[in-house]
Amino acid sequence: KPVVGMVGWRGMVGSVLMDRMRDEADFDLIEPVFFSTSNAGGKAPMGETPLADAHDLEALKRCDVILTCQGGDYTGEVFAKLRADGWDGHWIDAASTLRMEKDALIVLDPVNRPGIDRALAAGNRTWVGGNCTVSCMLMGVGALYKAGLVDWMVTQTYQAASGGGAQHMRELLTQYGALNEAVRPLLDDPKSAILDIDRGVIARQREMDGSEESKQFGAVLGGSLIPWIDKDLGDGTSKEEWKGMAETNKILGLGPDAVGGSNDAAVPIDGFCVRVGAMRCHSQALSFKLKRDVPLDEIEAMIAEDNDWVRVVPNEKEATMRDLTPVAVTGTMTIPVGRIRKLAMGPDHLGAFTIGDQLLWGAAEPLRRMLRILIE
Ligand code: HSE
Repeated sequence: KPVVGMVGWRGMVGSVLMDRMRDEADFDLIEPVFFSTSNAGGKAPMGETPLADAHDLEALKRCDVILTCQGGDYTGEVFAKLRADGWDGHWIDAASTLRMEKDALIVLDPVNRPGIDRALAAGNRTWVGGNCTVSCMLMGVGALYKAGLVDWMVTQTYQAASGGGAQHMRELLTQYGALNEAVRPLLDDPKSAILDIDRGVIARQREMDGSEESKQFGAVLGGSLIPWIDKDLGDGTSKEEWKGMAETNKILGLGPDAVGGSNDAAVPIDGFCVRVGAMRCHSQALSFKLKRDVPLDEIEAMIAEDNDWVRVVPNEKEATMRDLTPVAVTGTMTIPVGRIRKLAMGPDHLGAFTIGDQLLWGAAEPLRRMLRILIE
């Protein structure tokens, strides 16, 4: 059985990955070695062998595959040293550090399995999970890209707290609790004035803003939103917005960043990425300019048939409110795509709304599926 080094298996993405690997009996097919950056010698989550040291290059080099959810700093510290030492095993990584390297393939096999197979045949050994909004978006509407129908796309995202990390989820909930507490006597009194409640809430939010109570996000998220995610690139865009076009095209094998290069032009993709007070589902409103006018029923059929996880939600109020919300999608592998309609700008302009659990298809699932591709 291939020896698979597991690094960062205890964190939030790592824990979701471990659950999925247990559910799919992946551990029956591998010999796992569990590493730790802080608790080497401690007890591993399965088997008798104690935790190995995640900075022990010799131990890492004994692995055929290393699967890491430890984060970008760890990748930065370890990956180049391993390769420089001649280790040519497969490195599967959740962090963004290596994503845009020229020989790193961004893996999302329901969308780019042919690209993965070509890269494998060419000897590629570096596989990186995509940005969560990009992966969830392509799981939903990848069919339109595969059909070469997209002239350009605008995406407006509604990204959950989990994208920031576990502490961010806690902070959001703590803020919600603090806001409720600040106005509870007024809320409990049905005769109190709503504007008094509103004044109480905003006063408490402003007290939190920039304080310890909002230190993870840097601004209050509970009862508010933050229209900036990730670094400021200095040209008016956020890094999260930049990733939308760069990574989507790289996954699709289009444009200059495609592994092996591509003469096909990159599809322009742009929009605004916004943090909202959802827990772990990223949602996105998409606007497409299509290369031609395709009837809606054909578009819906293409989307529905693309993969086993996408579900077209009828563009009606009841179905939307039942099936197209973070509450409906959280913890499931389903990627609903709804609100599909032609926009007022013309018959070749299409709108859609899609949601994905950013810890499943957005992070853990493409990695475990890449592992399966390698070992089967
Ligand atoms: N950058 C994403 C977010 C996280 O902040 O929501 C995972 O790609």
